[in-house]
Amino acid sequence: MNGLDVVPVALGARSYEVRIGRGLIGRAGAEIAPLLRRKRVAIVTDETVAAHHLAALEAALAAEGIACTSLALPPGEATKGWPQFARCVEWLLEQKVERRDVVVAFGGGVIGDLVGFAASVLRRGVRFVQIPTTLLAQVDSSVGGKTGINTAQGKNLVGAFHQPSLVLADIDALDTLAPRDFLAGYGEVVKYGLLGDADFFDWLEVNGPALAADPARRQRAVRRSVEMKAEIVARDETEEGDRALLNLGHTFCHALEKATGYSDRLLHGEGVAIGCALAFELSQRLGLCSQEAPSRVRAHLRAMGMKVDLADIPGDLPDAAGLLALMGQDKKVVDGRLRFILARGIGAAFVADDVPGEAVTAVLTEALHRR
Ligand code: GLY
Repeated sequence: MNGLDVVPVALGARSYEVRIGRGLIGRAGAEIAPLLRRKRVAIVTDETVAAHHLAALEAALAAEGIACTSLALPPGEATKGWPQFARCVEWLLEQKVERRDVVVAFGGGVIGDLVGFAASVLRRGVRFVQIPTTLLAQVDSSVGGKTGINTAQGKNLVGAFHQPSLVLADIDALDTLAPRDFLAGYGEVVKYGLLGDADFFDWLEVNGPALAADPARRQRAVRRSVEMKAEIVARDETEEGDRALLNLGHTFCHALEKATGYSDRLLHGEGVAIGCALAFELSQRLGLCSQEAPSRVRAHLRAMGMKVDLADIPGDLPDAAGLLALMGQDKKVVDGRLRFILARGIGAAFVADDVPGEAVTAVLTEALHRR
């Protein structure tokens, strides 16, 4: 197929490919068929994605003689919990999905995480294919095998590492995304440049504003993001070390998401972008990078029309001590010390396990004063 990018995720017996290109949903039957032991799949999606794309996926499967059955869950983060998880698992059992069958997760991060987790426990583990339809899912959540759901105690606290057998990222599916959702996904794209590829960040500074309207540039941005994620996941599948780099901006982000009640006051990718800007400010305050680095991060996010600072979050926020306390509840706290991903410059992030609380408080206090 013309213009198809294939990024391998090298994990021994659990290796798979991420295929990235235009029109992939319309070719999904041919892409998935080689994985099947019988010509039948179960698709789990959400109602929004179903309205836009399910008929195209069903037609693509039918064209290869693959029968399918589908379940559309309600859209939104609230779906990613026990009730819809139980519904999904029971539905898959009712559909008589067998150990050697393939389940298709068709949607954004919520669907990918929930359905991946369902596949990991169904009959002690069945294979699944990710067809991510949001930018955030294409560049992050569909790759690397983290699956799970939220509980009353917090986000993603129940789950499993369960790698997909194939990921199909159809660049054209992003055409139907709301601009705000596209930009939120872009927060994760910028993250890759900031954490490990200064040339990619340079490229994004020039090309980022044109991504939404230009599928070729969009594909290049998705491919580079996925290449970086695949390389990190292959080195450290279960986050014993380097995989934590993917959490650049996330310690700040998780505190802000908690403070805003996981509402549409702040989408996850928006929190990541603000968190990346704050992580660079913290790095500069600790003398690790020059003032130019956080200034460039902020300038680029502004040029994209994104949220950049605490001032861009509507409504009240806790004070610096309150935000710091919310960070302390983050699951990545190791032995009571705060873990941050800091940077020695753009493209040069590293894991720091013993960041002084006073420096974090100072960065947050300044940011709150800008509100
Ligand atoms: N989203 C971070 C990771 O996959 O490790």
